[in-house]
Amino acid sequence: MTGYHQAMKIAKDANIVILTGAGISKESGLSTFRDADGIWATVRIEDVATPEAFARDPDRVHDFYNERRAGLLDSKIQPNAAHEALARLEAAWGGSVMLVTQNIDNLHERAGSKNLVHMHGEMLKGWCQACGLVCEWVEAMDINSVCPHCGVTGHMRVHVVWFGEMPFEMNRIYAALAGCGLFISIGTSGNVYPASGFVSEVRHNSSCRAVELNLEPSEGAQLFDDARHGPATEIVPGFVAELLS
Ligand code: APR
Repeated sequence: MTGYHQAMKIAKDANIVILTGAGISKESGLSTFRDADGIWATVRIEDVATPEAFARDPDRVHDFYNERRAGLLDSKIQPNAAHEALARLEAAWGGSVMLVTQNIDNLHERAGSKNLVHMHGEMLKGWCQACGLVCEWVEAMDINSVCPHCGVTGHMRVHVVWFGEMPFEMNRIYAALAGCGLFISIGTSGNVYPASGFVSEVRHNSSCRAVELNLEPSEGAQLFDDARHGPATEIVPGFVAELLS
């Protein structure tokens, strides 16, 4: 059918929303959360990733993110073929492509993605709880860190969304989901709301197709029209090539 993607019947100018999770960065050398070797197998969420944990033991929370930030800044950590394929899709596709990531790494932007929403924040940014400044932050952060804008000491935190907090840019994301013709979920286990609910949102639009690209079926796998299972560096470039063919 001319003008349509053959297998999925996606109009070549359909708007696309892509959701990514930790699985897309796994082959770049970053850990996922809920796999057997994932981050939550070694540390408890309630000790490092809640506002209550930060209030109770800020040193511990700062150390957790300092270690992850330093890991991300290691020169061995580079965008992989899946990140690169999504940047290629955005540049070449006829409609809009919005990439919504739960990841707090910077591998999508380093691969060249532009229309990118970090719904869970970014670990290379600091956030001053005194004046609201959000700024680049690559050094270790601690309870004596000083805000470069207001000069207040002890109110800097990493610019990430913790459990119990509202993810960023939800209105923009829901508007994009309401107007998309293709939703692609990549490398996420589907355990964390609201991202895990995006596939249900697009089900309200009968013309929207939903595809899962993941190592294994996710929690919400039955809600998708189609799925490809395997390592992101193989299945994402393959699927992007199909869309662009
Ligand atoms: N290629 C594709 N998928 C992979 C790969 C890979 N190489 N390796 C693992 N996966 C899949 C796993 O099978 C799993 O389904 O990626 C998914 C990762 O799931 P999680 O570890 O739960 O990560 P994610 O879904 O991103 O977590 C969501 O939870 O703790 C929070 O805030 C954190 O943003 C994170 C959120």
